[in-house]
Amino acid sequence: MIKIAPSILSADFMRLGEEIRAAEAAGADMLHLDIMDGHFVPNITIGPAIVGAVKKITSLPLDVHLMIEEPDKFLSDFISAGADYITIHAEASVHMHRTVQRIKESGVKAGVSLNPATPLCSLDNILPDLDMVLLMSVNPGFGGQEFIPGVLDKIKTLRQVINEKGIGVVIEVDGGVKPDNARDVAAAGSDILVMGSAFFNSEDYGKLMKKLREMLKGL
Ligand code: DX5
Ligand code: ZN
Repeated sequence: MIKIAPSILSADFMRLGEEIRAAEAAGADMLHLDIMDGHFVPNITIGPAIVGAVKKITSLPLDVHLMIEEPDKFLSDFISAGADYITIHAEASVHMHRTVQRIKESGVKAGVSLNPATPLCSLDNILPDLDMVLLMSVNPGFGGQEFIPGVLDKIKTLRQVINEKGIGVVIEVDGGVKPDNARDVAAAGSDILVMGSAFFNSEDYGKLMKKLREMLKGL
């Protein structure tokens, strides 16, 4: 089953607890938490303290997307905060193999994310070590941007490579995913769809989840 991961970046932060409970009640599969440092991306969001607070009020897996430079400096903070997945960016990682091993040794699932212009071949020598590849379908930094259509071919190619190698790494797609394109994005080979603005700007999270489950049936 294709999983839906609402990104709390588009939630109402004044009512964050309520928003998270509502996403969970609606049937979300995991929560996507966007961590931005104002250096790797031109925006600043939340840190480990908020991740820890979120952990206390939900049983959903926490999918922590680090859009930060020098991710190694902060790994232990996000691990202690209760991350279930930690994804670093290939573009921000100097010793990717070591960082991925550190994440995995702590019992957390490890992901690497690629910006739209970063080629899949940058993962050639690490793919079997990963739990997840996060393909950005917008340039990271903000919610509410348009899906970049060229990423569909990238998803298809990665799906083919993973299938040929017979490895269990999952593909997550992040940015501009909404009901209009969710089926195409999933059919291209994604396992997890991140949904920020389309989820939290919708009128009724339960209705949206039902609609998505219906649309994604059979994939
Ligand atoms: C963008 C973030 C995304 C963002 C997705 O830098 O990584 O997770 O919240 O938001 P939407 O779904 O609105 O594009
Ligand atoms: Zn994200």
